Amino acid sequence: MELSSNTQAIAYLVSAVLFIFALKGLTHPASARKGNYYGMAGMALAIAATLMGAEVQSYGFIIAGVAAGAVIGTILAMRVEMTAMPQLVAALHSFVGLAAVLVAIGTYLNKAAAGQLNPVLMGELSAGIIIGAITFTGSVIAFGKLQGLISGAPVKFSGQHLLNALIGLLTLGLGVHFAMTGNMASLALMTLLAFVIGVTLIIPIGGADMPVIISMLNSYSGWAAAATGFTLGNNLLIIVGAIVGFSGAILSYIMCRAMNRSIINVVFGGFGSDAGAGESAGAQAAEKGVKSAAVEDAVYWMEDANKVIIIPGYGMAVAQAQHALKEMMELLEAREVEVKFAIHPVAGRMPGHMNVLLAEADIPYDNVLEMDEINSEFATADVALVVGANDVVNPAAKSDPSSPIYGMPILEAGKARQVYFLKRSMRPGYSGVNNLLFYQENTSLVFGDAKDTIEGMVTALKGGGH
Ligand code: TAP
Repeated sequence: MELSSNTQAIAYLVSAVLFIFALKGLTHPASARKGNYYGMAGMALAIAATLMGAEVQSYGFIIAGVAAGAVIGTILAMRVEMTAMPQLVAALHSFVGLAAVLVAIGTYLNKAAAGQLNPVLMGELSAGIIIGAITFTGSVIAFGKLQGLISGAPVKFSGQHLLNALIGLLTLGLGVHFAMTGNMASLALMTLLAFVIGVTLIIPIGGADMPVIISMLNSYSGWAAAATGFTLGNNLLIIVGAIVGFSGAILSYIMCRAMNRSIINVVFGGFGSDAGAGESAGAQAAEKGVKSAAVEDAVYWMEDANKVIIIPGYGMAVAQAQHALKEMMELLEAREVEVKFAIHPVAGRMPGHMNVLLAEADIPYDNVLEMDEINSEFATADVALVVGANDVVNPAAKSDPSSPIYGMPILEAGKARQVYFLKRSMRPGYSGVNNLLFYQENTSLVFGDAKDTIEGMVTALKGGGH
């Protein structure tokens, strides 16, 4: 059955509405699953309507492509670890970018053969190719840095920004020349240079800043898709591309604001370049005037507490300690201890990182509070248990104007009666900044892998009172 263009347009409109519902659903963990279903329904409808359109002439290649993509996608999604999510996203963005480039070149060849080239179309093709090519190589480099295939350290040299600016201007110039003349050499050189920009733009950025860059590349991939939509005359692709483009841009902005950094600073700063030398724990802690404590000390305080606030961070994700935390929460609740989780907007390495992990362990949403909701409660908490978090509780953000994280909003863990940090060593967090809270009178560090430590606490709690 072949759809008329009107029916197809209506189907696209319904898909677009479903995508908007999907985004709405994804704004809260409780409705996120529903949001995903809306998105899946919208995408299924969009694919069906496209496949049934008049422009499809044969299904052989399409079925082969879909089958290959489905197999690769399913295997990747099933095997990926939660901590490797950012690189999976980077890899997927690179595909979007490459697809935009290939579609634009394919369209050029088709239209050239049919003698239907015109400056407006070629302008659109240039935009699609430039954005797509930057997205492609930029995402590949981001993937390589996150996966550890290439060094996460920023690669910098003098005159770098000037070089980038020159290549950028040359690429744009070639794009304009191509749009005016249809010259194939301009097209080829423009494509090549856009691939180069993707590399030179991302190599100076520190591995740890990658999540913001991933979110920016997400935005680029949206614009690349929108440009492809113009090329193909596909309204749905334009709408969806614009949604992705804007939401990626807004997310990048939110992340930068929560880290108190400008996007310019992230893009050109090379901050947070995988800091942290291999120091060993106990003795060094004592040398530095930091108290270390045993699991039993922390349990002693927690089991008699009225309120315990748990602050998860990147280390909880590394240790995969969320299930053990759930068990500990239940044991404490059975002793009438109120247990809450405090989530900083940039805890972990990607937006919503902590929420996803806690939800995976079935920790009720009502126990999980955002920074603004919980900060006033620390003063009435008996214990703040910091599980693999560091920067997000560092008071230097408030008290030390020379600190790179100065101005970043923090969780006020230091106001609790007792603070316990669960971490493996004296190494700093992502920003490489020493944590002033370690040296506070009521703070102790419990060294070890967070999952092992929490499991030790669970065992101690099961073992009964003191
Ligand atoms: P971090 O400041 O990076 O601290 C994580 C801590 O976890 C480290 O001090 C580390 O200490 C500990 N850790 C690592 N593996 C562990 C394990 N297996 N068991 C126990 N502890 C472990 O993390 P955070 O507090 O979540 O802060 C997030 C940081 O990332 C912020 O600076 C933020 O700006 C940045 N950032 C976040 C995002 C988003 S969107 N979330 C994006 C870009 C940047 P040891 O090595 O001593 O164990």
